[in-house]
Amino acid sequence: MATDQDAGLDRRQIFRSAGLLAAGLTASGWSSSIAAASLKKVSDGPIRLLANENPYGPSQSAQQAMADSLQDGWMYATSEGRVLRKLIAAREGVAEDHVLITAGSGELLRMAGLSFGQEGEIVAAKPTFSMLVGYARNTGATVREIPLDQEMRHDLVALESRVTSATSLVYVCNPNNPTGTLLPANQLRSFIDTVESLATVFVDEAYVDLLDESAHNAMIDKVKAGKNVILARTFSKIHGMAGLRVGYAIARPDIIARLRPLQMSFLNVMGLRAAIASYQDESFQAYSKSKIQECLSVTHAAFEEIGLAYTPSVTNFVLFDTGGSVREFARAMRQKNMLVGRSYAPYESWCRVSMGTVEQMGQFAEALKAYYKG
Ligand SMILES: Cc1ncc(COP(=O)(O)O)c(C=O)c1O
Repeated sequence: MATDQDAGLDRRQIFRSAGLLAAGLTASGWSSSIAAASLKKVSDGPIRLLANENPYGPSQSAQQAMADSLQDGWMYATSEGRVLRKLIAAREGVAEDHVLITAGSGELLRMAGLSFGQEGEIVAAKPTFSMLVGYARNTGATVREIPLDQEMRHDLVALESRVTSATSLVYVCNPNNPTGTLLPANQLRSFIDTVESLATVFVDEAYVDLLDESAHNAMIDKVKAGKNVILARTFSKIHGMAGLRVGYAIARPDIIARLRPLQMSFLNVMGLRAAIASYQDESFQAYSKSKIQECLSVTHAAFEEIGLAYTPSVTNFVLFDTGGSVREFARAMRQKNMLVGRSYAPYESWCRVSMGTVEQMGQFAEALKAYYKG
């Protein structure tokens, strides 16, 4: 049987034969030099305007919760998931069995894509956030994609006409990523009422907390009314906790019970404790939202000034028409130390830019003016 000592000897022999020991690189020295080379501080790198993160988070309260977790946060989660579920259920006015905590809402999207994709066709807009649709397709599902309307919003009439008895799930991302557009809440409510007897309606509300009228636009009333809907929410956006991986579903208990067995991740304690703190920190949420709105104003104003078409956004990103090659535009921004997003078919000349800080968006506005006005 191999022992740790044997393994150590084997490694030494390997290094010796490769001449690495002569170069002074022991096993631990080697791995620490790899770590030093690859673990760059993101804040030292280019300005990230590409991933819809939120540089105003996490809140002080969330950071404190993580710091307090250093002693025991390495253990498996015990009560944290239950506590967070209780808080969410209480605020939303549903019972706890309507809530499922997942590793980011991305895990939930994939669970739904897998579960419903095995049962029937998935209907979704194009372009929209690709995680649910992509995972469903990768696991063998048929996906029906319906173009957005002229205003780059979900075409609810066309979506409804594609829903048949063969459809298992309709994915509606509202507000939509990558267009940043919002559906009129009452139209979405009527859509849900019409479609839910044929297929489950999955409403991705990743950005709903950023809206001024978030209560009016969230479809929680449909869950409470017992409709066949799933809401997806996340701590990645308003809470600025994208890397901490906490999201949740709100749905009827029978739908939650169907999804739960497909969960792959154990939840991480630090993320959960940070989420518990941030969820109760309403002043931080108001601050985060107001900063993102300020960033949007700066960015929208720059597009107006230059005369570039854009979709007025209610999220933390904007899709705008570069009027040319997005790759070329992105390369020029890279030279100014900024990473911007990409295009989304069929809008080949349009580019998505995520909100950084207000100062960073000021720099983006300057770079934009220099690019277009010379
Ligand atoms: C619409 C939408 N849904 C879900 C997610 C996934 O977020 P997370 O897995 O970080 O919760 C994103 C991330 O950008 C998104 O834009």
